[in-house]
Amino acid sequence: MKLQYRITIAFGLLLIVVTGASAHMFYSLLLDNLIEQQRNELMLKGQIWIERMKNSRSAISPESVEELQRLFVPNRKVEILLVGDKRKVLYTTLPSSSLKDWLNDLERRAEKRKERRTWLIGSDDYIVVTLPMQNGESRRLLLAVPVRGVKEIRVELTRNIMGTLLVGVIFAILLSFLITRSLVEPLSKLVREIKKVQLRKFAEVQYVPATGEIAEVSESVYFMAQELDRFHDIQKQFFQNASHELKTPLMSIQGYAEGIRDGVFTGDAARQGLDVIVQETTRLKKIVTEMILLGKLESEEHLFHPEAVSAVELVNQAIERLDPIRLKQGITIAVRKEDAEPCVFVDREKFLQALINILGNALRHAREHIDVKLEERKNQLWIDIVDDGEGIPEALLPHLFHRFVKGKNGETGLGLAISRAIIERSGGTIEAHNGVIAGATFRIKLPLQKNP
Ligand SMILES: Nc1ncnc2c1ncn2[C@@H]1O[C@H](COP(=O)(O)OP(=O)(O)O)[C@@H](O)[C@H]1O
Ligand SMILES: [Mg+2]
Repeated sequence: MKLQYRITIAFGLLLIVVTGASAHMFYSLLLDNLIEQQRNELMLKGQIWIERMKNSRSAISPESVEELQRLFVPNRKVEILLVGDKRKVLYTTLPSSSLKDWLNDLERRAEKRKERRTWLIGSDDYIVVTLPMQNGESRRLLLAVPVRGVKEIRVELTRNIMGTLLVGVIFAILLSFLITRSLVEPLSKLVREIKKVQLRKFAEVQYVPATGEIAEVSESVYFMAQELDRFHDIQKQFFQNASHELKTPLMSIQGYAEGIRDGVFTGDAARQGLDVIVQETTRLKKIVTEMILLGKLESEEHLFHPEAVSAVELVNQAIERLDPIRLKQGITIAVRKEDAEPCVFVDREKFLQALINILGNALRHAREHIDVKLEERKNQLWIDIVDDGEGIPEALLPHLFHRFVKGKNGETGLGLAISRAIIERSGGTIEAHNGVIAGATFRIKLPLQKNP
C-alpha cells in the first residue's frame, strides 16, 4: 500500500479512537450533569412558587397550581404532589394508581433524612425534589420529572455533538491526506530518479526539490548520480585510452614482424625492425605493469605496509635511484629542508615509487636544475618539487593526474596517476601548478608522524 494511504489511515484511526473515547466520556458525564441541572431547576422554581404562596396567603387552589406548572417549559411534564398533615394529599398530578407508592417513598425518605438522586417508582426513575411549604411546617411540596425525558435530551445533545465531531474528523483526515501528499510526493519522485540510477542513466537524474530531511536525501541522490556519471565517463575514457595505448605498439610490432617474415625488410632494415619490436615490447610491458599496479593500488586492501620513515631519507633515496639519468642529462638537484627531521607514516617502497615518478618527470622536463623543498606546516609536511623546464601544458592541468593523460613527449601517461593513488592512500594529497616564470611545481602534503 502507498505510504500516503498508510499514514492517512493511521492518522484517521487515531483520530476516531481519540474522539470516540472523548465522546464516550462526555456521554457518561452528561447524564449526571443534566440530572443535577434538573434538580436545581425544580428546586429553584418550587421555592419561587412557595414564596409567592406565602406572600399571597391565599389557600392552595387549582389556579395557583396552574401557576406553578406555568413556571416550567410548557411541554415538560412535571409531576406535582402537595401533601399536608398525616399524609393528606392536598393536590396532585400523579395517577392514583401510583400515588400510594409515592407517599410511601416520601415518608421513608423523610425518615432517613437523606435525599437520593433519583427515585424508582414502579418501573420509572424520577428526579425528585421535596420542599417544606413553610419553615417547620409539615406541608410539603414534591416536584418530580422522569429521568427518561433527561435521557432523551442526552441522546439529542450527543447526536448533535457527534455530528459536529464527525465533520471535524472528516476535515482533519482530508487535511492529513493533503499534508502527507506534500510530504510523500517528493519521495515518489525520488524513487523514479533512483530507478534511473539503477538503469545507469546517471546523466538523466534530476534534482527533486523538497524540504527537510527529504531535501538532504534528494541532494545526496543527485550528487551521487553526478559522481557516478563522472566515474562512468572516466571508466569509459580509460578503456578507450587503454585499448589505444596497447593497440599502437602491438600494431607496429605486428607490422615489423610480418615485414621481416615476408622478406619485405631485409638486412639493416630488418635489424632496425627488430629494434623497434624490442622497444615497443618493453613499452608494452611497462604499460601493462603500471596498469596492474594502478589496479592493485585502487582495489587491494592489504597492499600497503606503512611505517614511520624520515622524509628526507626518502627524498634522497629517490634522487639516488635516478642518478644515472640525472648525470646523463647534467641536471642538478638541491634538497632544502628546515632543521627538523620530519617523519611520515607511509609504505616505504610505494612512496619511493611515487617520488621517483614525479622526480623522473621533472628530470625529463628540467633545463638544468630541480629544487626539492621540505617544510613543516601545522601537522603537515609539504614537499615541493620545482623544476626550471617549460612547465605543464595548460590543457593537461585540469586532469593531469588521470590515467593515460600525457603531453607531447610523454611515456605511458600513468606515472602521475600512480603517484596520486599512493599519496592519497598514505593520507596525503598532491597538486600541480606552473611557476610564475617557468617550470612546473608539484606539491605533496602528508600528515606528519609525531613520534617516529
Ligand atoms: N615536471 C613536468 N614538467 C612539464 N610537464 C610535465 C611534468 N611532469 C609531468 N608533465 C606532463 O604530464 C604528463 C603526464 O605525466 P605522467 O603521468 O608521469 O606520464 P608520462 O610521464 O608517462 O608521460 C607528461 O606526459 C607531461 O606532459
Ligand atoms: Mg612519468
